[in-house]
Amino acid sequence: MAERRIMTVVGARPQFVKAAMLSRALAAAGLPELLVHTGQHYDEAMSGAFFRDLSLPEPAANLQVGSASHGVQTARMLEGLERCMQQLRPDAVVVFGDTNSTLAGALAATKLGIPLAHVEAGMRCGDRRMPEEINRILTDQVADLLLCTSTAAADNLRREGVAAGRIHVVGDLMVDACLAFAPADPVPYLAPFGVSPGRFIFATLHRAENTDDPQRLRAWLNALAAIGRNEPVVFCAHPRTTARIAGLGLATDGLRLHGPADYRTTLALCRAARVVATDSGGVQKEAAVLGTPVVVLRERSEWTDLVSAGWCTLAPRPDHLPHLVANSKPPSSPVPTGPDAGSAIARLLADG
Ligand code: UD1
Repeated sequence: MAERRIMTVVGARPQFVKAAMLSRALAAAGLPELLVHTGQHYDEAMSGAFFRDLSLPEPAANLQVGSASHGVQTARMLEGLERCMQQLRPDAVVVFGDTNSTLAGALAATKLGIPLAHVEAGMRCGDRRMPEEINRILTDQVADLLLCTSTAAADNLRREGVAAGRIHVVGDLMVDACLAFAPADPVPYLAPFGVSPGRFIFATLHRAENTDDPQRLRAWLNALAAIGRNEPVVFCAHPRTTARIAGLGLATDGLRLHGPADYRTTLALCRAARVVATDSGGVQKEAAVLGTPVVVLRERSEWTDLVSAGWCTLAPRPDHLPHLVANSKPPSSPVPTGPDAGSAIARLLADG
């Protein structure tokens, strides 16, 4: 009997990381993979470097959708993905996380009647103003195989009435990737930033809720600059953030402003920082797994278990940030890292 062919849909930076670990597991299980890149992230720093550094397979197709409004971006992806799925006829489709690429992949597959698996199912932050929360809820509604990182995520799905037989707790591909790729010695990676281990803050900021309102973006930059008066703040800005800062002519004095870092460098910065200040879902988890306390630049986090265990502290308002960063300490118990998610997912996909 021919092996089941699995289409994996990626488009944005955090998905490249998760897909890399699943690709390895699919190859080890002898399941042929058809990787499709929507092109949501397209430049060297946001996409090309990740494909190279993580040895991702050559995409079977790249839709090159680029940046646009949510409606236009998602519609272009949906059209391109439907065409790819009709041409390549996969036996199952896998989508990752909560981006517009996730939702488009989910809609295209289910409308063609192709079984759909969602990696990171059941994550909820409870804030429906976030595009990511809407993408999560809708994708989980249509997926056949809901692959959860934790029992807390599985409980969210049960509460929403999802049939128990569709839910599987498989572990976390992002944690597996983090443990596989984090440099044991971060020091060589710190040289370009001019900082020493334990003596700087690593910051990232890119969520629409934080960057699209000029007052709020200015307030976050002021709060980070206030911290920068006491200890260096390495700020690796997403292109959307850099563009907003430049467009609004905002000051970044007191910050060590850089573009997006490559994956290993990001992990080295997470490991070596005294505290990480971020609104990224991925960076929150990676820093905590590597033993660094995190202040989350948001009102809520979908990593509710990291918040209750004390690894992540929410900063609902920018003026809370300096105090929270000054007082952050790592909790005594490490973050549980769980089983190898890649092989668990590959087994479920092989069974159909
Ligand atoms: C997307 C995801 C978010 C994820 C993030 C990771 C959605 C709704 N959001 O947000 O969940 O955390 O990716 O980075 O899907 N840009 C570039 N070069 C690129 C890509 C983007 O310059 O390669 C700039 C463009 O100005 C673009 C902006 O970034 O308009 C935003 O990109 P977009 O894909 O719309 O969303 P992200 O903010 O990256």
